[in-house]
Amino acid sequence: MKFDTPATSNPIDQLKVVGHPVDRIDGPRKTTGTAPYAYERHDVARNQAYGHVLGAGIGKGRVTAMDTAAARAAPGVVAIVTTLDMPRLEKGPRNTASLFGGPDVQHYHQAIAVVVAETFEQARDAAAMIRVEYARQPGRFDLAAEGPKAQLASAESGEGGAAPQEDRTGDFEGAFARAPVKLDETYTTPDESHAMMEPHATIAAWDGETLTLWTSNQMIAWGRTDVAKTLGIPEENVRLDSPFIGGGFGGKLFLRADAVLAALGAKAARRPVKLALARPLMANNTTHRPATIQRIRIGAQPDGRITAIAHESLSGDLEGGGPETAVAQTKLLYAGANRLTAMRLAVLDLPEGNAMRAPGEAPGLMALEVAMDEMAERLGIDPIAFRVVNDTQVDPEAPDRPFSQRQLIECLRTGAERFGWSRRSATPGQRREGRWLVGMGVAAGFRNNLVMASGARVRLDGSGGVTVETDMTDIGTGSYTIIAQTAAEMMGVPLDRVTVRLGDSSFPVSAGSGGQWGGNSSTAGVYAACVKLREAVAQRLGFNSAEAVFADGEVRAGNHSAPLGQAAGADGMVAEDTIEYGDLAKRYQQSTFAGHFVEVGVDAATGETRVRRMLAVCAAGRILNPKSARSQVIGAMTMGVGAALMEELAVDKRHGFFVNHDLAGYEVPVHADIPHQEVIFLDEVDPISSPMKAKGVGELGICGVGAAVANAMYNATGVRLRDYPMTLDKMIDRLPQVV
Ligand code: MOS
Repeated sequence: MKFDTPATSNPIDQLKVVGHPVDRIDGPRKTTGTAPYAYERHDVARNQAYGHVLGAGIGKGRVTAMDTAAARAAPGVVAIVTTLDMPRLEKGPRNTASLFGGPDVQHYHQAIAVVVAETFEQARDAAAMIRVEYARQPGRFDLAAEGPKAQLASAESGEGGAAPQEDRTGDFEGAFARAPVKLDETYTTPDESHAMMEPHATIAAWDGETLTLWTSNQMIAWGRTDVAKTLGIPEENVRLDSPFIGGGFGGKLFLRADAVLAALGAKAARRPVKLALARPLMANNTTHRPATIQRIRIGAQPDGRITAIAHESLSGDLEGGGPETAVAQTKLLYAGANRLTAMRLAVLDLPEGNAMRAPGEAPGLMALEVAMDEMAERLGIDPIAFRVVNDTQVDPEAPDRPFSQRQLIECLRTGAERFGWSRRSATPGQRREGRWLVGMGVAAGFRNNLVMASGARVRLDGSGGVTVETDMTDIGTGSYTIIAQTAAEMMGVPLDRVTVRLGDSSFPVSAGSGGQWGGNSSTAGVYAACVKLREAVAQRLGFNSAEAVFADGEVRAGNHSAPLGQAAGADGMVAEDTIEYGDLAKRYQQSTFAGHFVEVGVDAATGETRVRRMLAVCAAGRILNPKSARSQVIGAMTMGVGAALMEELAVDKRHGFFVNHDLAGYEVPVHADIPHQEVIFLDEVDPISSPMKAKGVGELGICGVGAAVANAMYNATGVRLRDYPMTLDKMIDRLPQVV
């Protein structure tokens, strides 16, 4: 089905099942431990051996020798494959660093060996016996130091959206020079780790030339293509299966070393191999969100109207990598005739940077929305009023492109009322409760809505049961549930008559889980397949398909009705289709909006910050399931608190690695760090986005949170921080004298 004109009324609008806060249909399996993750699939292949990955102990250079004699003689060892055993493997287009092979080390903990043994402990023990000699080379590990050598860089379309290297509208420099009120500040965000609970894990089994990978991957079709390319085998010979995923956040968008080394280990061992990346390997072996240094300049008239806005971002990556698209939202969020955005990319020899939840907007808004708060203060205007004055209903760089829907002002005003914004003191450092300095902050949330082609197959059986198959993944987001709701609505059956099967590369290729496109796009693919199935059912029953109504397990047309299953008969019926998108995304700007509100207390003596209350008001199209959508948003808000206050991969600039590569040293919020969180969804249907009239919401929830925390900390203390994470050491010597 081609979606190239705005959606009109369709069966989803009935909202009998879609739009209801139904429980996750995979919930009972998740809570009883019967939804197996990749490493737990003991039953899929007999005689599984255990693999353990050894990572390089240098940041850049060459492996000159590997002595595996002791390891090979160790108890239980079945096979060892080292990087010196083969030339560098090919790599798929979505990997920057090589995943294995050859002597060169491009980054710390790049995989250099896999040991296969009878038990996990034996594999790990033997891996520690491998003696490696290196020729170390100097590397580039310091983003700020490499900044002057950075080159302008564009971003291809991807999870962070496309952005040209430099974009100009009007005359930024002239307008900024003439602006009566202006700001020119620099903000930094650190490298961050996805830190998902389930590590990258794979069980690999060969059957002749055919490879099956039971793995944990967000994008099955990408993974399948890249496995084939990396191992040099035909794509038809590769099957991926990933029905349950314990978190991804972008870290499992791409093929990683677990899958490649499980496959190589299984080949060498001549039996299935199961392998998980040990937690201490994940920070440096896999991808991370790159650090940024962002300069923002804003010029405005005394009434608050922005006349000039510039956002320039510097980030780093390995040779051949790409920039963090931190300027993405600044192209679209506020009006202003004179504009400049630019991205620069420094070559670094740190591990590969790549997408992490809301790549681009998440770190970009951590800078822009603090700059907006600072500018509002300089203008003497309330931060919400300042954003309202600069609202735009069209793409400010291309005014003939309207937003499909844009309710930013409504998000901010609704949030202000619900949060009690009027009780905020405009002057910072005024509210004291015992030892706590208390303040409120606000930030706009913004994330683009991307759409991706997505396919599905729908079967109807003789009893009226419906089964959906698609290679869509559920990374904890609720895909199973909203897909079941979609099929139930379309076929007119109760939710418990729908079975959903996901994550298998033998199913039709879907949008996958990335860039907050998965929910809207994958359900739209199911919608398309169901439209086909409805037509086939009506035809088989001799009904006019335009008149046929699917409800209560029956099909009705005129005076006739028949049980749905009757059409299927004993053999069942099947329909398959893919939703494909035309140029609506070019003619309209599709984005999602939020108002994020945060109240913090800062300990007047120690500088410790505690978040006290949070509210997100979201406008993101039709909400397919308010319960799972809310869960997505509160999870993302939690991640935003981590980015604001805790998360930072500490770079060892001498040796080139992330030092805190475990969950003891890499801090993320725990329950005790997170207070009451509230989420409000504004009523919205967006017929430009898809037949579902929905948009993405899973990444919107993080976008703006960090800045709202920063702005609340400023309101509490009068100390302005521009350097994340905002740990107490950065403010303790600047706190007001309170005793
Ligand atoms: Mo997302 S960072 O595209 O999983």
